[in-house]
Amino acid sequence: MQQLLSSLGQVTSVIGAQWGDEGKGKLVDILSEHYDIIARACGGANAGHTIVVNGKKHIFHLLPSGCLHEGKTVVLGAGMVIHLPTLLEEIETLKNAGVEIISRMWIAGNAHLLLDVHKEIDGLLEERRTSVKGEGIGTTKRGIGPAYMDKAERVGLRLETLLLSEDAIKSELESHAQRIEKMYGIQMDTATELANLKAAKDMLESRISEDAASHLAVNIESGKSVLIEGAQGVLLDIDYGTYPYVTSSSTTIMGALQGLGLAPQRLNSCIGIAKAYCTRVGSGTFATEATGDAQERLRERGGEYGATTGRPRRCGWLYLPDLIRGALINGFTNWNITKLDVLDEEEVIPVGVGVDAEGNVQYEELPGWQKPTVGITEFADLPPEAQQYIKFIEEKTNVPASFIGTGPEREQMIAQS
Ligand code: IMP
Repeated sequence: MQQLLSSLGQVTSVIGAQWGDEGKGKLVDILSEHYDIIARACGGANAGHTIVVNGKKHIFHLLPSGCLHEGKTVVLGAGMVIHLPTLLEEIETLKNAGVEIISRMWIAGNAHLLLDVHKEIDGLLEERRTSVKGEGIGTTKRGIGPAYMDKAERVGLRLETLLLSEDAIKSELESHAQRIEKMYGIQMDTATELANLKAAKDMLESRISEDAASHLAVNIESGKSVLIEGAQGVLLDIDYGTYPYVTSSSTTIMGALQGLGLAPQRLNSCIGIAKAYCTRVGSGTFATEATGDAQERLRERGGEYGATTGRPRRCGWLYLPDLIRGALINGFTNWNITKLDVLDEEEVIPVGVGVDAEGNVQYEELPGWQKPTVGITEFADLPPEAQQYIKFIEEKTNVPASFIGTGPEREQMIAQS
């Protein structure tokens, strides 16, 4: 493990290679103790990861999975859209469990505020899309698209708004409300939004960094190590994903660097995370989606229900061209293949390897192992067919599977140099 960790270097990132929910949180949790700074770069409360605090499960949406580790600095980057009541709730949950986080976090002043009204607009836009196209994107309804729309339109409110006087914040909100009413006919509840911002101002004002990007660079130059926790996955990227069924941010490593204001040459490694199979929530293409029993088996064995929305996830098989492309565009240096054990009972495992001239997926069938792999921590202890499965991914993508998940617990992981 030590050799593997030193090969990752001072600044590393963890990026989902599929449609999110690859299980990034577990690797981040394992790696966090070895890094000084844990940073989230993009997205908002559409992400969801389960954190166990004092034996009790909590689902967090904004704070990175690594936040529980005492003494680690937590950064929320400029690429994020932050719903302050959700953030305060997460901070409170940690506080109640005896974990203090405020004094060791910083938030980019140029990150955007996501207001309650953005969620309302998200719902309205989904309805409109459904009535025009017969189907929406299947968003998480967390207001992500509308908050990024404000940002792109250059009318969004940013975290630095909290540094203004209460009167100035009120007047910013009032002009925002007028705009929203004109555009969508929605009455924004300015009093509630103001109360939310005031509560956040009281707690977080001192944690807002006016130049988080320089602050991060200075920290790196002084020797601090950084773990970047990506949100969602490559196939949900607004530019490189399965548009238009994507989220509104850049989920690749390029987006993460932009979201933190981090120069590319500072990055030492980029770990791609992919499930040993594949899942998707929401609408859109999914070439290797399983049918019948297999769909149900994967969902039940993998516990495939959305952490943010509770929706059952669509389940299917790996599609190698997506992993190859993800590795190419992100420059993955390592894989973490997660949830290998979910495939333990499969007799044969289809893997999508391409499409024919008519656009039908071509599969290669690999033999299943039909033996438990749960909790195995050494590659050599995996059944030969499971080893073959992993090697197949490594060979086709040209990226080593340095981490292989064999169960939900922290210890259930193979780590190999
Ligand atoms: P939005 O990000 O809420 O606008 O949703 C856009 C698409 O991204 C929908 O298909 C969502 O289900 C999907 N999505 C957004 N965040 C996540 C995530 O963290 N995991 C999995 N899917 C996500």
